[in-house]
Amino acid sequence: MADEIEEIKRRINIVDLISSYLTLKKAGSNYKALCPFHQEKTPSFMVSSEKQIFKCFGCGKSGSIFDFLMEMENLEFPEALRILAERAGVQLKTFERKEYKIEKDQKTKVYEINRLSARFFHKILIGKPKAEFVRDYLAQRKISDKSIKEFMLGFAPDSYDLLSNFLVSRGYGKLDIHQSGFSIASEKKEGEYYDRFRDRLMFPISDALGNIVGFSGRAMHKTEAGKYINSPDTPIFLKSRVLYGLDKAKQVIKEKKRVIVVEGQMDVISVHQAGFLNVVASSGTALTKAHLEILGRFTKNLSFCFDQDEAGEEATKRAIDLAHQEGFDVKIILLPSGNDPDDCLRENRVLWEECLKEQKGAIDYYFENIFAKKKGPLEAADKREIAKELLATIKNLSDKIAQSHYIKKLAEKLETPERFLYEALDKIDKKQSERNQAPALPAKSMIENFEDRLIGLILSKPEFQADFFKRVDLENLENPRNKEIAEKLKIYYNKVAVFNLNSFKKKFPDIAMQIDLLVLQYEKITDQELLKAEYEEYVRRITTSKTEKIKKLYEEKIKEAEKSEDKDRVKKLIKDFQKAIIGK
Ligand code: UTP
Ligand code: MN
Repeated sequence: MADEIEEIKRRINIVDLISSYLTLKKAGSNYKALCPFHQEKTPSFMVSSEKQIFKCFGCGKSGSIFDFLMEMENLEFPEALRILAERAGVQLKTFERKEYKIEKDQKTKVYEINRLSARFFHKILIGKPKAEFVRDYLAQRKISDKSIKEFMLGFAPDSYDLLSNFLVSRGYGKLDIHQSGFSIASEKKEGEYYDRFRDRLMFPISDALGNIVGFSGRAMHKTEAGKYINSPDTPIFLKSRVLYGLDKAKQVIKEKKRVIVVEGQMDVISVHQAGFLNVVASSGTALTKAHLEILGRFTKNLSFCFDQDEAGEEATKRAIDLAHQEGFDVKIILLPSGNDPDDCLRENRVLWEECLKEQKGAIDYYFENIFAKKKGPLEAADKREIAKELLATIKNLSDKIAQSHYIKKLAEKLETPERFLYEALDKIDKKQSERNQAPALPAKSMIENFEDRLIGLILSKPEFQADFFKRVDLENLENPRNKEIAEKLKIYYNKVAVFNLNSFKKKFPDIAMQIDLLVLQYEKITDQELLKAEYEEYVRRITTSKTEKIKKLYEEKIKEAEKSEDKDRVKKLIKDFQKAIIGK
C-alpha cells in the first residue's frame, strides 16, 4: 500500500490537481490562491510544486494530494485513494481483495454503483435495438455521437428491475442500490424495491473531478412522474452543490475568465457541442450560494442565460442578486422569448452568437426592464418606485465603483441629486435586499429544515444527546425519518456508554445513509459556543412550534364552536387546550 501511495504521488502533480479546483497564481517558485477551506480576501493558500504539498497560512490546513482531495470532496482516505489511483493509472492491489470489498465504506460503494450504472445505461443507448427510438430522438435534436459519448448519455429502459438485477449480479446489495438513489422502496411490500429511472434518457452528473455522483433522467414518453427526475441526495450527491458540466467546463472557464450558466442539461450539451465550452447548469434546483462559491473558485465573471418567461424572469432576478452578493460581475444573455439555448442553437447558430455578443450587465438589464415598463413622463410616485426597486439591486453590488456608476446613471435618469439616492441606499438594510436569496433546498417546510439540523447536530456532537433526550419529546418531531432516527438513537443511547457514530450506523443500516446526510452539515463545525447557541435555538423552536400547532388547532375548533353558539363545547375546548399546553 505504501508503494502504491508513493507511486500515485509521483504521478500526480499537486499543482495540476489543485488547479482543477481553483485558479492558482504563480508566486516565485510556489503558487498561491484564495483558500477554498475558509473565507478570505487576500490569498494565503500556498502550493509548493517542489515539495508537492499545500498549506494555508490562514486556516492552517495543509498536506498532500490526498489531504487536499479528502478536504475538498469530504472523502475518507480509501475513497480519495481510489479516485487518485484511477487518475494516476495505478492499479490498487489492496482493493481487489475480497475482504476489502466487504468492508468498503459506503461512499465508495455509492461511487461504484453510479459509475457502473452510467456504463450500463450508455451501452444500452448506443447498442441495443430497444434504444433505437432514443437514438432517433437524439439525432432529431441534433445531439452528435461525439456528445453522446462525451457526456456518457444513456437509456434506462421501461423496466422495474433491469438495473437492480444487473447491480445485484455485480455483487451489490438491494440496500446499497437503494442508498445510491437507484431504487425506490415499495410501499406494498417491506424490503422490496423497484428501479427509480424507467423509460428515461439518462444524463450522468459528475463532480468537478469527473466522478459520476448522480443522474438526471428525461422522460421519453408522457408520464406523471415529471419530465425530468433526479437522483435523490445521497452521501455523494447534494443537488445544492453539484453543477452539471463543470468537470468539462472548468479549464475553459479559467481560460476565458467567464462562465455561462444555463438552465438545463440539454442546454449545456448543445452549447458545448457548438464550441462554447465554459458552460454549466444547476441540476433540478435553483442556483444556490454553494454553487456560486464553487464557480467563484474559477472565475468571478458570470453570464446567465435563462428562459425569459415570467417564472424564468423571477428565477433570473434571484440568481442575479445572489451572484452580486457573492461578488460576481453578472451579465445576461437574452434570447428571443420562448427559446432556451438549445432551441436557439438548433435553429440558428448565428443568432446565438449575436445574443452572446450583445450580452449586457445585469444591472443595465434591470434598468432597461423597469424603464421600458413606464411609458411617458415619470410622476413622482413612479420615480420613488423605480428608485426603490433599483437601489435594492444596486445595494447587492459588493464593488463600490460599480455601485457609484449605477447611482450616477440612476440619478441622471430620475433627474434627482445623487446625494438623495445615496441616503436612500444607506437606509436599505441588507436583509431587504436579500429578498432574492435562492432557497438552498426547495419546498421543505421550515420545521423540517431545522429538525434536520437538530438531528444532524446531536448525531455529530454526541455531547448534546443527554440534554436532548431530557428536553425533547420525540413525538414532536415532524419528519417521520427524523423521528425514526431519534428513536433508534435513544435505544442506542440507553444501551451504550460511549456514542460511536459508525457502530450506531452499523446497528441500523437502513438509516445509515440518512444519518450520513444529516451529519454532513456539521462535519466542519467545531466552534462549541456556536453549536450550543444553535442547539438551544432548535430545541426552543421544536418545543414552541408544537405549542403553536396546538394553539392553532384549538383556535379553529373554538371558533367553530362559537359560531354554532355551543357554549359548553367552547368551555370544554378551552380546558382541553390548557391541558394540552401544560401537559405536553
Ligand atoms: P426545462 O423544462 O426547461 O427542460 O427544464 P429543457 O432543459 O429545455 O429540456 P428539453 O429541451 O425539453 O429536453 C430545465 C431544467 O430544469 C430541470 C432539469 O434540470 C432541466 O434540464 N427540471 C425540469 C427538473 O429537474 N424537473 C422537471 O420536471 C423539469
Ligand atoms: Mn429545451
